[in-house]
Amino acid sequence: MSISPLKCCINPSILSADFVNLEAELARISNADAVHVDVMDNHFVPNLTIGLPVVERLQKVSPVPLDGHLMISNVDRWAPQFADAGLYSVTFHVEASDAPIKLARELRARGAKAGMALRPATPVEPYLDMLPELDMLLIMTVEPGFGGQAFLDVMLPKIRRARAAVEGSGVDVAIQVDGGITEETITRAAEAGANIFVAGSAVYGRPSPADAIESLRENGQLAFTSTTPHLNNTAPQPA
Ligand code: DX5
Ligand code: ZN
Repeated sequence: MSISPLKCCINPSILSADFVNLEAELARISNADAVHVDVMDNHFVPNLTIGLPVVERLQKVSPVPLDGHLMISNVDRWAPQFADAGLYSVTFHVEASDAPIKLARELRARGAKAGMALRPATPVEPYLDMLPELDMLLIMTVEPGFGGQAFLDVMLPKIRRARAAVEGSGVDVAIQVDGGITEETITRAAEAGANIFVAGSAVYGRPSPADAIESLRENGQLAFTSTTPHLNNTAPQPA
C-alpha cells in the first residue's frame, strides 16, 4: 500500500473482528490495502483494546500492512515504539500530543508514515501549516472509542476544507476517515475528498469481508474520481 491522495484505499478495522483468532481474521481481508489497528487505553477513550505486544505479533503475521490508530494518552512516549515495531503507518491524536511536529518527525525517522487524527470537535484549521510534516490526516467521523456508531455527516465540511488545503498546498497527504463508513456513507465521504476509508462493521459484519472490501472500494473510487477528476489526470505535465 502506498499512501497517496490519488488512490482510494479500504482499511478494515480489526476492532470488529473476532479477537480469539486474529491471524485467521487477517487472512479474510488479504485484499485490503491495509489493516486498521485500534489501540485504546481506557483513558484517552472510554474503551480498552490491545497494546504494543499484540500489535508486534500482528505485524509479524499480517498479509497486509498495518495502519495503527493510537487512541491513547502519553502518545509522545508510546507512538515511536509502534513505528519501531515496523507498522506501515502510525496515527496519533493531536489532542493527546504535547509536541505533534516533533512526534511526526520521529515517526518518519523511524520509517513509518506519520498520521495525525482529529476528534470530531477538533478543528482542522490550526493544523494546516503542519501538513508537510504528515503523510496522512485522519478525520474522525464518530467519537473515537467504539465500532458500530453512525457516521457524522456534520464532519463533511471539515473533510472538504482539509482536501482543499491539501490541494492548495500541493503536499502529498492522504485524508483518512474512520467511523460509520458503509457502502452508502463512503460515497459522501469520498465526494468530500477523503481517500482512505476505515471500515469495521461494514467489513467484518458481512458474510464475506473480502467482497465487502471490493464493493466499498468500488463505491469510494467512483465517488472520489467523479468529484475530483483533476486529481486523477494522468496526462503528461508540461516541462
Ligand atoms: C472507533 C475506531 C474505529 C472503529 C470503526 O473509535 O477508531 O476504527 O473500528 O468502526 P465502524 O466502521 O464500525 O464504525
Ligand atoms: Zn480507528
